[in-house]
Amino acid sequence: MLLSALLVLGVCLIPAHSKPAGEQLGSPLLQTCFEEAKTIVDDAYKYSREESLRRVRKEVVRPHDALRLLKQPRGGTRSAVRSADYMAQTLRLLQERVHHVHKRSLNVTDLLSDEDLNKLSEITGCASQVTFPSCRTTPNLNTYRTATSVCNNIKNPRLGSSNTPFARWLPAEYDDAISQPKGWDRTRRFNNFLLPLVRQVSNNILSTTDAGVVNDLEYTHMVTMFGQWNDHDITFTPSSPSIRSFSNGINCDESCEKIEPCIPIPIPPGDPRLPTGRNSCIPAFRSAPVCGSGYSAYNFGGEPNKREQINGVTAFLDLSQVYGSEEQLAKFLRDPDSDGGLLRVNTEFRDNRRELLPFNPMQANMCATRKRVTNDTNAREVPCFIAGDVRVDENIALTSIHTLFMREHNRLARQLKRINPQWDSKTLYQEARKIMGAYTQLFVFRDYLPHIVGPEAMRRQLGRYPGYNANVDPSIANVFATAAYRFAHLAIQPFVFRLDENYRENSRLPSVPLFKAFLTPWRIVFEGGIDPVFRGLVGRPAKLNTQDNMMVDALRERLFQFVKHLALDLGSLNMERGRDHGLPGYNAWRKLCGLSQPRNQAELAQVLNNTDLARKLLQLYGTPANIDVWMGGVAEPSVRGGRVGPLFACLIASQFQRIRQGDRLWYENQGVFSPAQRAALSTSTISRIICDNTGISSIPTDAFSVISNRNRFVRCSRIRRLNLFAWRDRCRGPGDNCRGVGEEEAVNDLEEPREPQEPQESQVSQEPQVPHTPVSPGTSGTSGCEGSPGQRDPLASNIKKDQLPALPSNASLSNSAFSVRLGEYSPSSERTIRFQEVIYNKQGQYSTETGQFTCVIPGNVDLIRNNKVALRSFKVFLGGLHMSAGDMLLWLGAGDKVWLEASGGTVGLSTESYFSGHWLYAA
Ligand code: HEM
Repeated sequence: MLLSALLVLGVCLIPAHSKPAGEQLGSPLLQTCFEEAKTIVDDAYKYSREESLRRVRKEVVRPHDALRLLKQPRGGTRSAVRSADYMAQTLRLLQERVHHVHKRSLNVTDLLSDEDLNKLSEITGCASQVTFPSCRTTPNLNTYRTATSVCNNIKNPRLGSSNTPFARWLPAEYDDAISQPKGWDRTRRFNNFLLPLVRQVSNNILSTTDAGVVNDLEYTHMVTMFGQWNDHDITFTPSSPSIRSFSNGINCDESCEKIEPCIPIPIPPGDPRLPTGRNSCIPAFRSAPVCGSGYSAYNFGGEPNKREQINGVTAFLDLSQVYGSEEQLAKFLRDPDSDGGLLRVNTEFRDNRRELLPFNPMQANMCATRKRVTNDTNAREVPCFIAGDVRVDENIALTSIHTLFMREHNRLARQLKRINPQWDSKTLYQEARKIMGAYTQLFVFRDYLPHIVGPEAMRRQLGRYPGYNANVDPSIANVFATAAYRFAHLAIQPFVFRLDENYRENSRLPSVPLFKAFLTPWRIVFEGGIDPVFRGLVGRPAKLNTQDNMMVDALRERLFQFVKHLALDLGSLNMERGRDHGLPGYNAWRKLCGLSQPRNQAELAQVLNNTDLARKLLQLYGTPANIDVWMGGVAEPSVRGGRVGPLFACLIASQFQRIRQGDRLWYENQGVFSPAQRAALSTSTISRIICDNTGISSIPTDAFSVISNRNRFVRCSRIRRLNLFAWRDRCRGPGDNCRGVGEEEAVNDLEEPREPQEPQESQVSQEPQVPHTPVSPGTSGTSGCEGSPGQRDPLASNIKKDQLPALPSNASLSNSAFSVRLGEYSPSSERTIRFQEVIYNKQGQYSTETGQFTCVIPGNVDLIRNNKVALRSFKVFLGGLHMSAGDMLLWLGAGDKVWLEASGGTVGLSTESYFSGHWLYAA
């Protein structure tokens, strides 16, 4: 009915019976304006897509095109953005018509009835953005996350899900109080001062030289890049897909006119790099609005009237950058040909036989940068990779981390299938995904955040897990995505380091200047894969953000520069984005965090502990209150033990506090994992994941800390593996009387099934040399066994319990356990296999009550003490498993040496053999 009314009317006119202010507009007009708006938006999108494709094909992708394409909404995010654009343009047209007739300013939504607004909301698609989905039909609601995270919170199913508005912790401050970016009107004053041009601030405060870069003495570049990786799990602010203005059709990059969605960044006079002049600006695009926010004035979630921005990804630490934040993408990323729950991999190329990410099937290939970067017109280009997050190709360090975690998913899925052959593809996928989610929660909270926010904020806000609270909103705050979590832009080195097997620079595959590492997946395909990049990440320090050495030129002067086009400036972009989102100034945020609010130069100098910097900032801003919050935050000296100042420590810690507490499926929440699984997970490390999925065989135990006496290179075999035994599902068939996966009670220390052999890597120069001990290990044996924990072969023990020497009366069983592990990837008969990983009282399987350990070794292995056999075990075939087991109490004196020896037979020590034991001593 509505549609036929539209066709009759044809154009958007105020009908003769148009209503004066106070009365309601009728539906036909609304419908007409909607149809016109729809045409405008659809045409703009279509034009933009075709124009992008044309530029990409003609290889004239300019830096702002690259940024626009990286921030392009896809799938459900695109629908959300499109709906918002329909809504905004419909209301703009209505407003124009009303204004045209009434010649005075009216808020058009005041003239619309609730019924009109509801109808508009429906036809634009905005209504579907806010309807509450039913969680009752969601399968496995308590076990697995949905792709969008809808129904994580049962009462409020959209909390934390993808394509919802960023949270506002402080009301937005727009130029016109509704939507216009701060500083849009160059004559508008804030706190009696004009805002400086962001590029001017960048030039005066952020500028630095590569030569002046100060290295972080504590943390590796892995910390920095892990930050970006982690950020892409939780924030993605899409921009409008339109390259041109909706109202006058002018291309944003052909004019410096400020008109939606263009947000040109003016270039100040005398800019050292960029051309100045009236029509000179860096083209940029506004972040897309949330449906009905801003001028649309129909409130769909944020503050009434004020423009809100969309977070396109889930707020939870769920590795959505691996799996996607939407069902369709998640489905695409799964390997369609596998029944093993695997992720799709590249079918054309491999990295030393290891998997690479699949190529993006999109027509527009903005990663065809190789010819231009290498100046080789014959160079073969490759498409961009595809992953759960669109920014996967942004730089090759990030791409490498994506590749690593995709491989880890597939490794886990394969291992789980070996343990539980009865599981179907979906279960394998979801269980591997669940483990991956737990990894990231653990790495972020245990390993990463303490280095960033420091011990004080950790203790105050991120200490012991307080349990799930359905009333906590985990949504990402606008200030977090747009300012606080961008702190690490100042910790990025000007190079993506690449190192050889000895962790040295190698001219064959040198480090890549950062500005030549953007959108270059071909470097992963043709230049040695991800191993050299990972060695560079863990083997080289982060850049230290110091007050006189802030942002490297690769980001400030050469962002996305492929040829001599106007490169972008990330510092300017960060500040302009803050204004685009209407973020309040520096002092408002300090107030929110309970910090002092400096009012003048002296007070600012005190806060920054730097008079010169305070003076320079106030020359630009006039008052501390107006300082762009990102700029103010990164200018603060770091908190003790952290890498951000007090303001960002507060904002970042507050955000992660919410993410954890508002996540029903947080890995520590009761019932999500079994105690045994949690205990196993707690041993996971990033170093182990690197070991398991690359050809790297030596690595610092702590991938985040620079090499030191406390953090040396160790062989991968020394780094503890995730023990998947706790995932063994005893339910093999429908009739089984068994407990399901995740319901194991006992923690055990069995090794998971063995991985395929990894290529041997040469000895790393920094690795400490281990003294040779007289051990003659056997040849590589069969793969590790699947014996159940504590299962003992009575035949194998040659010392009877009652023959054991009595414990000394003062022996302390509670604090004197020790455990050793033997592990070696490539045992050979000439080389010693060392005991590794000596753990005191940390072995879950060690019982302080009985003081017993269980030794479960495939093959015949003797335990030798001082060249004498202390324990002889014989291989037996028990319950379908080959095992050699024995338990004993062995008294060790000072200087005693203990080792394992293959004692002949067909099966000796395997690559996965281990010995675990305990040592009791007098307290
Ligand atoms: C080579 C490394 C990096 C490059 C080239 C880079 C580049 C960019 C670019 C171009 C943007 C969009 C700017 C805008 O238009 O608003 C952005 C956004 C962002 N960056 Fe980075 N970045 C890097 C590393 C990092 C790191 C290490 C972190 C944090 C630890 C980080 C955190 C963020 C955040 C939170 C956003 C906002 C994301 C969103 O909501 O869409 N970035 N970055």
